[in-house]
Amino acid sequence: MTKTSNEMWGGRFAAGPDAIMEAINASIGFDQRLAAQDIAGSRAHAAMLAAQGIITDKDADAIREGLLTVLSEIETGKFPFSTALEDIHMNVEARLKDLIGEPAGRLHTGRSRNDQVAVDFRLWVRDQTDAAIAGLQALMTAVVAQAEAGADWVMPGFTHLQTAQPVTWGHHMLAYVEMFSRDMSRFQDARKRMNESPLGAAALAGTSFPLDRDMTAKALGFDRPMANSLDAVSDRDFALEFLAASSITAMHLSRMAEELVIWSSAQFRFVALSDRFSTGSSIMPQKKNPDAAELIRAKIGRIMGAMVSLFTVMKGLPLTYSKDMQEDKEQVFDAADNLMLALAAMTGMVSDMTANQDSLRVAAASGFSTATDLADWLVRELNLPFRDAHHVTGALVALAESRGVDLPDLSLEDMQSEHAGITEDVFSVLGVDNSVASRTCFGGTAPNNVREQVAIWKDRL
Ligand code: ARG
Repeated sequence: MTKTSNEMWGGRFAAGPDAIMEAINASIGFDQRLAAQDIAGSRAHAAMLAAQGIITDKDADAIREGLLTVLSEIETGKFPFSTALEDIHMNVEARLKDLIGEPAGRLHTGRSRNDQVAVDFRLWVRDQTDAAIAGLQALMTAVVAQAEAGADWVMPGFTHLQTAQPVTWGHHMLAYVEMFSRDMSRFQDARKRMNESPLGAAALAGTSFPLDRDMTAKALGFDRPMANSLDAVSDRDFALEFLAASSITAMHLSRMAEELVIWSSAQFRFVALSDRFSTGSSIMPQKKNPDAAELIRAKIGRIMGAMVSLFTVMKGLPLTYSKDMQEDKEQVFDAADNLMLALAAMTGMVSDMTANQDSLRVAAASGFSTATDLADWLVRELNLPFRDAHHVTGALVALAESRGVDLPDLSLEDMQSEHAGITEDVFSVLGVDNSVASRTCFGGTAPNNVREQVAIWKDRL
């Protein structure tokens, strides 16, 4: 072997790589994040090789011990990462050889970097999936606490961002809890599918060594080994599913963040965000900006970008492994980091924010928000077809608007000018509290419904 060719695979090479080749080929700059997973996979593989009599117990022990030393060197920042050694797999193995000598060369028996990287990345994504589930759990707990505090605070509900009907703060909060719980179930579901071990698929065809793939799968917490070696080394669905679930979560976070941006503005004043999650302006002394909410609103860009990027890398790739697939990692790392950050920031912001009950109530009562209640009353009490009731109510809204007042400010005579059958009783349904309290149908905004749902969520969380 010449000095210049690669120590791990350079047997047939006379010359080392061009500097540009080394630069485009190396992944150690980013895949060092897989060190812990790589070492866990190698330790499981070594133990299994010994159990199957493929290497000696003595060699396996030396390998397993040596790998722990490598791990601690990496964790304490003492590890000399080398670009010439391309990736985390070869960096770890080369260092192991420095430490224990010849037995290090036996670790790669019946294995390839193709199944090795597939294991490492799967383990990493599985950890992040667990972290996303925990992050969503914490966020949902914070949102449920807001819902519980404000089960009967009235606020305007919007469609088209125009006042539609009064709703309760608690009901609005619980809408997000439903969204985040679907996100959580997507991660849980993806986790089940990803939890199979590629280890033992070797380069692509499996191996002639009598590996015990069940043993390594179990040692790494996988449910079972993957059944097809070609699929095992070429599949990145687990990363795509993680990114898809992350993108939907990020979209939900973005919508909630947008509401907080609007609600905390001087024009709305629905909520006050805490100082801890706001920033000031360097020129305008009065400013308190919702930067955290704005950044959360924006995170969807890079998270969904990562998903599109990986789909684009994977599309059209023939089976099995192609080096294209080295481009799977950086975007997933970035997406995971930013998702966890966004979840934590949203959890902090929601826990700290204070709803302004007075502003919510005033806004809830304006904009003819109880017009539907009036129409419903005409249907219920005067047996009008809903379409006619809608028409009568529309005329009354126009009348109120022309006078610059709200519906409850009209007199009974005004009401009767549009329909003679209207009685004093109509005013009982025009208040916002009455309106929300009447929405008792399952899934509706009534405070009692909210309290029931809060109890269910507190139980589940
Ligand atoms: N660094 C590579 C990656 O991230 C590891 C697998 C390399 N396999 C190979 N046959 N060159 O995909």
